[in-house]
Amino acid sequence: PSLDEILNLHDFEAIAKQVLPEKAWAYYSSASDDEITLRDNHAAYHRIWFRPRILRDVTKVDWSTTILGHKSSMPVYISATALGKLGHPDGELNLTRAAAKYGVIQMIPTLASCSFDEIVDTAQPGQVQFFQLYVNKDRAITKKLVQHAESRGVKALFITVDAPQLGRREKDMRMKFEAEDPSVVSKSGSQGVDRSQGAARAISSFIDPGLNWDDLDWFKSITKMPIILKGVQCWEDALQAYDAGVAGVVLSNHGGRQLDFSRSGIEVLVEVVVNLKEKRGLSFPNEKFALFVDGGVRRATDVLKAVALGATAVGVGRPFLYSFCAYGTEGVEKAIKILHDEFEMNMRLLGARTLKEVVPEMVDASNLQSH
Ligand code: FNR
Repeated sequence: PSLDEILNLHDFEAIAKQVLPEKAWAYYSSASDDEITLRDNHAAYHRIWFRPRILRDVTKVDWSTTILGHKSSMPVYISATALGKLGHPDGELNLTRAAAKYGVIQMIPTLASCSFDEIVDTAQPGQVQFFQLYVNKDRAITKKLVQHAESRGVKALFITVDAPQLGRREKDMRMKFEAEDPSVVSKSGSQGVDRSQGAARAISSFIDPGLNWDDLDWFKSITKMPIILKGVQCWEDALQAYDAGVAGVVLSNHGGRQLDFSRSGIEVLVEVVVNLKEKRGLSFPNEKFALFVDGGVRRATDVLKAVALGATAVGVGRPFLYSFCAYGTEGVEKAIKILHDEFEMNMRLLGARTLKEVVPEMVDASNLQSH
């Protein structure tokens, strides 16, 4: 179908499934074990309902925001997803170009197919990019990656903390990963790996399962970039992260690809907001400590629910990947435009002219809990 016929982000997924080679589809779409968390990432948003307000003159609505002090055209950023070239020869550069055009922030993955420098070089002057870090057992490699990212102008460091070992994504494991084609994985530390068990296992054997809270001081000593922990799943860890002096957390279960039966990020958000208010007097959204959410976000309504409940912004993973599989950069642009259109309409219908007016009272999350 032509891009004009694409109406929503789900459409990109259906098309990606048709056009992608089996292996690529398996890697992108898979989640761990029985994929219960993957499903609940979507279902959780369906348990939240709106309480819109009327008669508020919504002629003009504005869904732009700032994320860690940087302008963003919407409260959405492109989350890190590895191996972009499985989907399209230009891989992550499709995301970079579309992000430039529409003022969206891209999080560059450690395991991008394109090299880090290629992605940064493709960015426009002033374009904001973040870096997602998998921590290598060899800290010298990690230090080099982090300091190089900072020197190239990357604005924030997202350390992935939910993947001491990669989850069992069985769809993906049934595919033998033959990345003899070096174009699919860039060189960032993936030598000497077992290629017999799917893409995820093949590329991730360098990740350090020994990573722990005591390492955070070391990270602070090697970079001035704000540090955000990606993959926090309960209020206790969010509180510890705040006390450890990091700039924020991403409430995420890695798109359902790690521990199955992890709760959705949006469900975790509620308990984090309650407990950080109660125990540290914080209110959200908060400039000093940002709460991000990802997993299962497919509509602006999903995003507005997260914002109402206190999130600064949400990360979107698969939909942006799927959007470039058949259409390259234009697909990603279309995906962003769809979200912008959805924001405009839904903010009008909600009676919110700015994101500040998207308040907790606008949602009924009383049935959000999964149990
Ligand atoms: C991911 N994700 C991810 N996260 C991370 O920290 N480092 C990584 O290399 C990857 N790679 C990756 C590959 C693929 C194919 C997917 C689908 C996801 C997780 C990602 O950043 C994000 O948390 C989820 O994708 C969010 O869920 P949705 O939007 O895909 O539902």
